[in-house]
Amino acid sequence: MVTYTLKIVDIRNETEDTVTVCFKQPALRKVKYKAGQYLTLIFRINGRRYIRPYSFSSAPSVDKLIEVTIKRIPNGIVSNHIHDQIKTGDSVEVFEPMGEFIYHPNEDVRNVYFWGVGSGITPLMSLIKEILALNSEIQVNLVYGNRNFGTTIFNHVINELLVKYKDQFKVWHFHTQAVLSEDNTHVIEGRIKEDRALDILTKIYAPESLHYICGPSGLKESVKTVLNNIGVPLENVFVEDFELVKDPKDFEDIHTQVINLKFENVDYTLEVIKGKSILESALDAGIELAYSCQTGNCSTCKGICIKGELKMIGLSNERSDLMINEYLLCCSHPLTMDVCIEI
Ligand SMILES: Cc1cc2nc3c(=O)[nH]c(=O)nc-3n(C[C@H](O)[C@H](O)[C@H](O)COP(=O)(O)OP(=O)(O)OC[C@H]3O[C@@H](n4cnc5c(N)ncnc54)[C@H](O)[C@@H]3O)c2cc1C
Ligand code: FES
Repeated sequence: MVTYTLKIVDIRNETEDTVTVCFKQPALRKVKYKAGQYLTLIFRINGRRYIRPYSFSSAPSVDKLIEVTIKRIPNGIVSNHIHDQIKTGDSVEVFEPMGEFIYHPNEDVRNVYFWGVGSGITPLMSLIKEILALNSEIQVNLVYGNRNFGTTIFNHVINELLVKYKDQFKVWHFHTQAVLSEDNTHVIEGRIKEDRALDILTKIYAPESLHYICGPSGLKESVKTVLNNIGVPLENVFVEDFELVKDPKDFEDIHTQVINLKFENVDYTLEVIKGKSILESALDAGIELAYSCQTGNCSTCKGICIKGELKMIGLSNERSDLMINEYLLCCSHPLTMDVCIEI
């Protein structure tokens, strides 16, 4: 895995619980990325290595600095470390940019819709800035859910873009704590639900639109249902998940098991408690396996099951690229007592 060491040149407060960390591009070996991809940050906290992906909020053609925007998660190890410990002038080790949540130009497409809630705005912001700057023929639409304007990340950037691209960029704000007034006519009270999404989409010709969704599973399901009903082709819909969505029903046939793990020619015996993935169990035991997204997207955590049976839980995208016996350990759980994995 290619790594870079990036220097922090600024940390900006976005809202009460969200900051943007700005890195300087290295002078010689530049970090090349596409709008919508993510950067994986590596930290050592209390002697343990933690790796977390953060979507770029900067756009490569627009922003000079490399920027990621991080929301504080209650009890979250890395997000709190970033908020409380890191400072301008620090250096952070990162993996090369990854991710497929990128713009897929299509000559039939005239309308691109971005659907986001809360910190799900980060990759959308990167894509919106990039598309507006490079594609004057594309109508860009943002449907963005928050509590109110106080918790709306990038509200000032959105307002600037609305002025700069007034004929090309349109925004619908959905607020659960809306303050409605004559000046706020573009604010809709409540969450982004099927009927409201449908209202927004009435005037489009579905096959000529692209849709990017990033937010909680409720948003994803509502928007996907509407898009399916109005005939948007599945290949025109792109989703980014910030965490694995686990259905307790999928764990009914999973039990705590002891497995064998061979990593860098060392044999380990590892207890995998019901509910924890093999990757999480290995990291908890101090075995520093490689990983990045932890959502079954990047393949960094791939292992080969040489004995026994495993079950992958929480994958949102089908992974037809995996060879027989290859498993993503961030979402793999042992089904049998004799599991043996080699990495
Ligand atoms: C592709 C990708 C891009 C991402 N981009 C961003 C981004 O741009 N900005 C950003 O702030 N985060 C982003 N994330 C999430 C980020 O990687 C971390 O998961 C998040 O910061 C929590 O890490 P932590 O160490 O603080 O929490 P942990 O210590 O790992 O988790 C603590 C608890 O919080 C829960 N949790 C973990 N993540 C979330 C979440 N996102 N929302 C609510 N609860 C959560 C966990 O289930 C756990 O119970 C992204 C994730 C992925 C996979
Ligand atoms: S860490 Fe990305 S697929 Fe498992």
